[in-house]
This record gives sequence, structure tokens and C-alpha cells, in this order.
Amino acid sequence: MRKISLTGIQATGDLHIGNYFGAIKPALRLAQDYEARYFIADYHSLNSVKEAAVLAANIRSVAAGWLASGLDPEKVIFYRQSSIPETFELSTILMAFTAKGLMNRAHAYKAALQANTEKGEDPDAGINMGLFTYPVLMAADILLFDTDVVPVGKDQAQHVEMAQDIAQAVNFNYKKDLLVVPQAVIQESVAIIPGLDGRKMSKSYGNTIPLFAPEKQLRKTVMRIVTNSQSMEEPKNPDTCQIFALYKLFATPEEQAALARRYRAGGMGWGEAKEALFQAMNRELGPLRNRYEEIIADPPSLDKILAQGAEKARAIAGRTVGRLRKAIGID
Ligand code: TRP
Repeated sequence: MRKISLTGIQATGDLHIGNYFGAIKPALRLAQDYEARYFIADYHSLNSVKEAAVLAANIRSVAAGWLASGLDPEKVIFYRQSSIPETFELSTILMAFTAKGLMNRAHAYKAALQANTEKGEDPDAGINMGLFTYPVLMAADILLFDTDVVPVGKDQAQHVEMAQDIAQAVNFNYKKDLLVVPQAVIQESVAIIPGLDGRKMSKSYGNTIPLFAPEKQLRKTVMRIVTNSQSMEEPKNPDTCQIFALYKLFATPEEQAALARRYRAGGMGWGEAKEALFQAMNRELGPLRNRYEEIIADPPSLDKILAQGAEKARAIAGRTVGRLRKAIGID
């Protein structure tokens, strides 16, 4: 039997290059060898997106983005978390096995506490239970589908470890392997995609390059990449340059070697490097962008794909929850 790969993606905004290389591509590669279950974590997104129209649009845009990037809904079970009520039932069951102290140690929660403390506010100011229990809901997402591997970014490794802890607590209590203990798969080599300012590309830093931006906007964004004040004449180091780091994601090895030579020889301005990057990016992203535009222009077809995925997912989810209810004495 093939092993199961599962991952969720938040619907918090338009997809960017970091999502594509850090999450989508590795997950689609895994889908070739694993039985894949990929979903839009829309209830997780509710913690940060509280405008209905924005959340609704984000859900479709993220779903269209995965499909445009090559997810085949015939091969991958592709659905919205919110379509699977069993997730929330399992989440309630898992709550009873989750130590509050474990949640206290979650990085995202701790960061919010610290930010409040630094501002001299009440430590829990603005922190809702959705944020606090975020790892339990994520554990439910994972454990519901007998997941073996979870392809995620480095920032999510702790959440997967928590899902392991919670699964083990359940299994230990009932002296039975009721839940599969999942493993995180972190693509080390592409774990960090630099953003416009050289820091990790992240929506929270406002330094992203959108994945489906129209050509003109893509060029404009690439031209905004921050560079140092080296003159045109000076030789430059490709290995410490975020333009080059991004170029490597899109260019062939020969193209990379050629541009590296231009860097080292001197006489190349940053504008030229950015133009080379834009060309390579646009070559790969152009067809994706066209597919995305087609999908997003046809919401009924998109919704149908997600509904079909949800139907397949619920069949599996129902079995897991049934097994759990029986084991815990609520049948
Ligand atoms: N927390 C993940 C993120 O922000 C999204 C997510 C929700 C997820 N549930 C999941 C990822 C289950 C993997 C498995 O990226």
C-alpha cells in the first residue's frame, strides 16, 4: 500500500514564490510517490482573516493556485478543511489528550505573548482561542487521514511534532495504535526563499513576489529587489546575492553558470541581473499564470472540484472518527 502524504495551506492571501517552491512544488513531487491529500486550511485562516469577502476570495485563489501549479484532482484528494466536519469532531476528542502546557510552548503563541509583553500590554491581549488551540486543529487535520508524511516548511515542524505527541497520548491511553504517528518532511534545500529585502520571503514581512502577478507587475516587483550600492564596474558575488538565489530557482545550470560569470567579471549592473531574473521567472510562471486566470474565471467548476474532493475525503474521515468513537466509549 502506498504511504499517505498530507498537507494544508492557509487561505491568508495570494500565493507567492515562497509558497510555490517551499510548499507547493515539494508537495506535488511527493504526490507522485504517495497517496496525497491536500487541502485548504480555511478554518485556520479564520484566526487572521475576519472579513467574509476576503476569506471567500482567498480560499478560491489558493485553490486555483494549487490547480494551476499542476495539482491533478483525479490523483490527489483536494478539498477544503471546512467541508470535513469530522475534523472538528476529532479536534474535540484530541483536546482531551492535549496538555495545556504543550500548547503554551507553541512558537506562534509564545511570539504573540512576547510581543504583548514588550509593548507593556496584558500578555494575552488580542490572543484568541483559535490561535491557542491552532496546533490541535492541525493535529486533527493530519491524524484524521492516517497521514504518514507531512510536507511543510521549517516553521511548521513544531506543529507536526505536537501532532505526534497528541497521537501518542491517545494510543498510549487506549493501548492501541489508533492513530498513525506522522513525520514531517522538510525540504531543507528550498526551505528558505529570499524575499525582496533578502529576509525569508513571507507575507508577514511584506517582501513577497506574487506567483500569478501579470507580467508588468512581476517585472516591477523584481525591479524592487533591494541591492547594495556596489557600482556597475565592481565584480559581484553571486553567492551572497538574493537576486542570484532566486535566479537559481528558475534558470538551467548553464544559465546559472553564465550569470555567475557576469557577476564575477564586473561591468554588470544590478538592473541587468534583475532583468535576467525576470526573464527566467516569466518563462516558468507565464503558463501557470494563464492556467490560473482560466480557473479563477470559472468559480462553479472550481467549487465542483473541491466538492468532489471533499466527498472522497469524508469517506476516509468518517472511518477514522468511527474508529475513535468506538475506542473512547462514545459510539
Ligand atoms: N499551519 C499550516 C501553515 O500555516 C497550515 C496547516 C493547517 C497544515 N493544517 C495543516 C499543514 C495540516 C500541514 C498539515 O502553513
